[in-house]
Amino acid sequence: MNSNNGLPIEAYIDSHFFELEQKHIFSNTWAFAGLIEDIKIPGDYLTVQAGLSNIVIIKNEHGDLLAYHNMCRHRGTQLLEGKGSGLKKLTCPYHDWTYQLSGELVSLPKSRNEFTGIEKDCLNLKPANVGIWRGMIWVHPDPNSTSLQDWFGPIENQLGPHEVESLVEFKDSVVIEDINANWKVIVENYIDHYHLAQLHAGTLNMYNHKKAQFGFVGKHFKFWEPLTDDYQRNLQQNAASPLVYQSGLNNIGVWVPMLFPGIGLAELESSWSVFHIIPISPSKSRVIVRTKMKDSGTLDYLKQSLSSAAFWDKKVKPKYASFDQNHPLGSADFMREDIYICEQLQKSFTSPQFEFGPSASFGEAPIRQHQELIWNIIKPYWDSRLVS
Ligand SMILES: [Fe+2]
Repeated sequence: MNSNNGLPIEAYIDSHFFELEQKHIFSNTWAFAGLIEDIKIPGDYLTVQAGLSNIVIIKNEHGDLLAYHNMCRHRGTQLLEGKGSGLKKLTCPYHDWTYQLSGELVSLPKSRNEFTGIEKDCLNLKPANVGIWRGMIWVHPDPNSTSLQDWFGPIENQLGPHEVESLVEFKDSVVIEDINANWKVIVENYIDHYHLAQLHAGTLNMYNHKKAQFGFVGKHFKFWEPLTDDYQRNLQQNAASPLVYQSGLNNIGVWVPMLFPGIGLAELESSWSVFHIIPISPSKSRVIVRTKMKDSGTLDYLKQSLSSAAFWDKKVKPKYASFDQNHPLGSADFMREDIYICEQLQKSFTSPQFEFGPSASFGEAPIRQHQELIWNIIKPYWDSRLVS
């Protein structure tokens, strides 16, 4: 048992604390931008918010990925939004300032004589850093940031055997959830080993939580646990969908790491997902889940679903059998169970009577460590707010 006071309660409800996180955590790290399939051919582009910076990622005519701060060098207007294709130049819609894909400012149309004496070369788009790791595109607002390989190197050998690039994302499979909870509540729930056997007693009981191995590797969190014996014994038959790795693997199980800050992976036996937590406000977050599965035909999926139906029918149960299935605790859906709990927790934070109780020494250690990680970054700025 440990006390759970790693962060002040303001960390979960206060807008100044939220702004400090945006500035000193999310603007200062590698941000998840998408899957490699999002930018396939020259001219494809994608914009992404990386903390306070908006970044545009472009595939140029040579097939290289380039990233710039998505701002015209004139008044700062955002040049592009969303994603698209066929980009040959970037033109600001405000005054038509135009840039090459290399970021170079081409011309100052129509008003050239109003800008005499300016150094055009100083007005190229500001570069950002971009890279690919594990089938995902990542950006960093600082072009001279630490490399992607250095950033993820420590956790690389703690991940699943999944060949992410060879898996496919099926049409309309993206899940977007707006959750009324602080982003850290969602992270803490994700890395909380203690609740797996309780809240998810009927929904994640095909994994052996007693044999879970987890812990922080630098700022990233690793998590692995095996399948239960009855599931693994006939895995080929019991898997709900075609397996995404060889069933003869000696450390067969699930890898569910949380990359810093707030990018979870769920590397399972039949699927691979990225669980991207985006802070919206102190008490609101958006979670975007993108899932890839084996590149097999409909028939394979149908066969697998038929062969495994009896196993899953017996295995999966709602938390409360008496609840309507429209209620998260009657849904038998672990993600709905988690969202419900995160929102219920957030509701209590404004109560004058709220306080964290004792925390489990083993199963909740990751929560305390994550809180410490955040506090170490934010504390100097938070404390200095009192000095005026
Ligand atoms: Fe959970």
